Amino acid sequence: MSIEMEKIDPGSVPQRKLYTGAMIPAVGLGTFGSDRFSASQIAEAVLGAAQIGYRHFDCAAVYANEKEIGISLQKVMSSGIKREELWVTSKLWNDKHAEEDVISACQQTLHDLQLKYLDLYLVHWPFPNHHAPGVDVNSRDPHAIPYIHSNFMKTWRQMEKLVAMGLVRHIGTSNMTVPKLKLLLRDAKIKPATNEMELHPHFQQPEFFQFCIDNEIIPIGFTPIGSPTRPDRDKAPDDTVDIEDPVILKIAKRLNVHPAVICVKWAVQRGQVPIPFSIYPREYLSNLKAATVDPLTEEEMQEIPGIDKNNRLIKGHVFLWESAKDWKDLWDLDGQIAS
Ligand SMILES: NC(=O)c1ccc[n+]([C@@H]2O[C@H](COP(=O)([O-])OP(=O)(O)OC[C@H]3O[C@@H](n4cnc5c(N)ncnc54)[C@H](OP(=O)(O)O)[C@@H]3O)[C@@H](O)[C@H]2O)c1
Repeated sequence: MSIEMEKIDPGSVPQRKLYTGAMIPAVGLGTFGSDRFSASQIAEAVLGAAQIGYRHFDCAAVYANEKEIGISLQKVMSSGIKREELWVTSKLWNDKHAEEDVISACQQTLHDLQLKYLDLYLVHWPFPNHHAPGVDVNSRDPHAIPYIHSNFMKTWRQMEKLVAMGLVRHIGTSNMTVPKLKLLLRDAKIKPATNEMELHPHFQQPEFFQFCIDNEIIPIGFTPIGSPTRPDRDKAPDDTVDIEDPVILKIAKRLNVHPAVICVKWAVQRGQVPIPFSIYPREYLSNLKAATVDPLTEEEMQEIPGIDKNNRLIKGHVFLWESAKDWKDLWDLDGQIAS
């Protein structure tokens, strides 16, 4: 059997329970092509990944490929996989935060993905600040503003409406911080079921991770492999490389797998939901398989917290407003929401 033909039984992939009781597969396929892959290449990966056992797909309107992914999802369902067996996430882009835009943005995504409902809809960023595709790190939206909680709650009320309308099963956040989430937890009628956040061995966010667990918010980990091929705008000279870390390399050698696979194993065993991206069958197969065989030992799980470099890769420069000092203002590092 060629490696491309190998399949993983979706029943063998661990799942995490959301506070609603719903179960989310513990590994999903990322679908952001980092400006490197075409929409049709990514849609092909969605189809191939479903064929080898993936049931969870992390989409977003801003990835500009939901139409093509929708065609793949139709093929997946006509092959006999039921809608209820799939977990499809999408995200509200920053230019659709206005009250009158949220519902229609979600309807557009549903139309593109050819679905009647989403399992999860996230507010992609807590700011209504956006940028043109492919811009460089110095590009700024002249209308960009800091986080304004009353504005965010207006957006969130529309997200809650989507649940009431039956268009989405769960709502959640992305690129949040503890202070912002505390306000949301105080004011939400429907609390976020998940928070999508950057999580990889060199950026473990232990306090934020624990905050999510303590509040029954499932952390979904983006860039789980350290996004080695992310766009240039997200690269900084001091960034470290997870898949070159000596501890990750040592474990990869023991298990005779690519270091990327160790990052995925660590994420699953820690309790977050990684959403690694790849269009290559060999890679996406090994990322799903990572959750089902050869777990890391207790010693290895204890060693990995020690390699955290607090190295945020997706710093978010392009979402900064005029008076912001630098990208750290997006992340409330001193516990205060920057204004
Ligand atoms: N909510 C948000 O704001 C947000 C932000 C960023 C990302 N995301 C989501 O998170 C997903 C994943 O993030 P990401 O794509 O930036 O980073 P990533 O998953 O950490 O890294 C992806 C890259 O790692 C390499 N790779 C993957 N599996 C591999 C394997 N088994 N062996 C060797 N190399 C492997 C591939 O490089 P090659 O292509 O060179 O093989 C691939 O392009 C995105 O697709 C998106 O869905 C969300």
